Amino acid sequence: MKYEKTKEILNQLVADLSQAVVVIHQAHWYMRGTSFMRLHPLMDDYMDQLNGDLDEISERLITLDGAPYSTMEEFIEHTGIKSEKGSYAKDINDHLAHVVEIFRYIADKYQEGIEASAEEGDDVTNDILIGAKTIVEKNIWMLQATQGKAPNIDPA
Ligand SMILES: [Fe+2]
Repeated sequence: MKYEKTKEILNQLVADLSQAVVVIHQAHWYMRGTSFMRLHPLMDDYMDQLNGDLDEISERLITLDGAPYSTMEEFIEHTGIKSEKGSYAKDINDHLAHVVEIFRYIADKYQEGIEASAEEGDDVTNDILIGAKTIVEKNIWMLQATQGKAPNIDPA
């Protein structure tokens, strides 16, 4: 079947981006600390960004005759992103480190999709995923800089 591997990764991303929004929403709600006023709205920006990517990726999958996961149960069954119960005791830097971890995971999935779509000749998906990966890597740089760290982007 055409674009089979590409479609598989697009659906994986549907589950992962859905779960990423949930975990970042938790950081938005549960963070406490001196940088709250700056970081709380930043999580809103990330959610908007991820929801935008989620919609674009789902709709690309539909365009390729695919069927995106669309229930909480499917997202949980397929995502590789773990979550845990919210806690006010969690330090603001731990929230940031967790968000960076999620962005790194997503950047890797985008890379898998970039490679699969290049291999299968799906230039449009390739373009969508390259654009999405660029933004996620920039987020990683900025979050790492906030913590006094180098980006450490794996060139893959
Ligand atoms: Fe809010």
